[in-house]
Amino acid sequence: MSPRQKLTLLFNELFKSVGSAPSFGDVKLSDRPDLADFQCNGAMQASKAQKQNPRILAESIKELAEKTTQDYDFSLAGPGFINISLKDALILKYVNALSQDPQLGFEKPLKSEKIIIDYGGQNIAKPMHVGHLRSSVIGQSLKYLLRFMGHDVLGDIHMGDWGTQMGMLIIAIAEKWPDLPYFDSNFQGDYPKTSPVTLQDLDVIYPDISGRCKEDKNLAEKARLATFELQSNRRGYKALWQHFVDISVADIKVDLDILGVNFEQWFGESRYQQMAEALIQDLESNKIAYISDGALIIDVAKENDKTEIPPLLLRKKDGGLIYASTDLACIQERIDVFKADRILYVVDQRQALHFEQVFRAANSSGLLKESSCKHLGFGTVNGPDGKPFKTRVGGAMKLKDLIQTLIQEAKNRLHEEGIAENLPEDEFNDIAQKVAMATLKFGDLQHDRVHDYIFDVAKFSRFEGKTGPYLLYAAVRIKSLLKQAESKDFVSSPLKDINPSTRALSLLLLQFPDSIEHAADRYLPSVLCEYAYQLAKEFSRFYTNCHILSEENSDIRGGYLMLTHLTLKVLETTLSILGIEAPERM
Ligand code: ARG
Repeated sequence: MSPRQKLTLLFNELFKSVGSAPSFGDVKLSDRPDLADFQCNGAMQASKAQKQNPRILAESIKELAEKTTQDYDFSLAGPGFINISLKDALILKYVNALSQDPQLGFEKPLKSEKIIIDYGGQNIAKPMHVGHLRSSVIGQSLKYLLRFMGHDVLGDIHMGDWGTQMGMLIIAIAEKWPDLPYFDSNFQGDYPKTSPVTLQDLDVIYPDISGRCKEDKNLAEKARLATFELQSNRRGYKALWQHFVDISVADIKVDLDILGVNFEQWFGESRYQQMAEALIQDLESNKIAYISDGALIIDVAKENDKTEIPPLLLRKKDGGLIYASTDLACIQERIDVFKADRILYVVDQRQALHFEQVFRAANSSGLLKESSCKHLGFGTVNGPDGKPFKTRVGGAMKLKDLIQTLIQEAKNRLHEEGIAENLPEDEFNDIAQKVAMATLKFGDLQHDRVHDYIFDVAKFSRFEGKTGPYLLYAAVRIKSLLKQAESKDFVSSPLKDINPSTRALSLLLLQFPDSIEHAADRYLPSVLCEYAYQLAKEFSRFYTNCHILSEENSDIRGGYLMLTHLTLKVLETTLSILGIEAPERM
């Protein structure tokens, strides 16, 4: 537990003992670190409820606290703030214990939950572009975070492999190569093992056909029919579709590998076709869903909705299944078969209404039981012009191209800064790749998930300021410091004495569990980015003020080294939750 958590427990009890609600005793970091480490502001609110003077209530809480423990300095400020500082002895005790704790002060919850995170969401037949980046990077980080906390977490890519795009591709290929066996409904033999088209072909074919379908009603109708036939298991279409899936998955895997993103479940919307049909039939016969205007719908509006939430469409007039029905069937499988307690969807904020409708429908259909679903939306990645990120020539930036750009930028910066220059070429390239990934991931994750942000290659690649490269460099510098200490046979030992620099660094290290908790409460990796940045800066202050390697007193030096080891452990743990890996040297 962090000092803040322990203090909160103490103050919850104290407020309870004077007849107030325990939650008034919640303790937070001090707004004035020059005056105190922590503060409790509950007396103001609690006194209102009890019609008391807040200062008097705060005074009596403070006195009670002083009677309970000698480990802190308590003081009052303003109308009833209680300021709290840890005595140095307590900080020493805590930080020395922290250095021995593999969970770094974080206490796992009593009950580990089974959590499924639906992220990535790549669509087949299209190369991955920057739009898929956020879901992959945020989802992966939340998976690591929840795992660190002790939960049993599965990631599912939930690929977009179904729906009208598939029908469009089929008719476009039939148009170009009508003689292929896939279109001959009398064909009985085996279909070719290799795909008649490459992903590059599809990348050209798809925008063209989708544009034409928008303008040409007949063509759109043809695509709809082909989709319907595919969904009704027309053999040739199924075989062609399987090629689309195979070539797409192979390509997606290459990109994800570079990104260090992985999934336990490689399912897609197509998996849910049959389950959705069965579920829909059930819902219809149980009168939960009903036909309106030829379509099957389910009402999801609630009385006190501020804006109108339209009914969820499960089946279109023409019988075609849609996104919502596969999503609903998927919830059913995740809960009934995979036993998920919690399902998280890391999907573009623009799908918020869809998920609201689906979750409500799942609830009223009785699918959710004790489980919960949550949509974790995110904003758009914009270019320097504030519009969705594009390549120089204007198309959506492919992920591969962005990564190449970042690797080149990393190499330039490394040369400019004179970092890693004398290392063998292979190692230099590996470092540039790690720096590029840190640039990309930290650049994304440091932004509050729900907001749009501008992907600024130059700014995110800098080795100073709140950037991925700065943090990697900070971690590597600590590693090199520890190697030097080792070569001199300097060993670390418990910290025995405290000065302002070691005090500040210790307190920050002790806040690691708080940053985990805050990040997880709101599913915001950005909280961990901020923490890692503060830690790197605090270490750098400590390093400037305390001359670790030249300290002659071995006790003092040992304590400094303990803090250095601990900082590296906390920093690397935080970075690894963000999916960022630091090289051994630079
Ligand atoms: N493939 C979808 C898209 O690109 C995202 C899928 C998200 N997950 C889900 N269960 N609907 O928009």
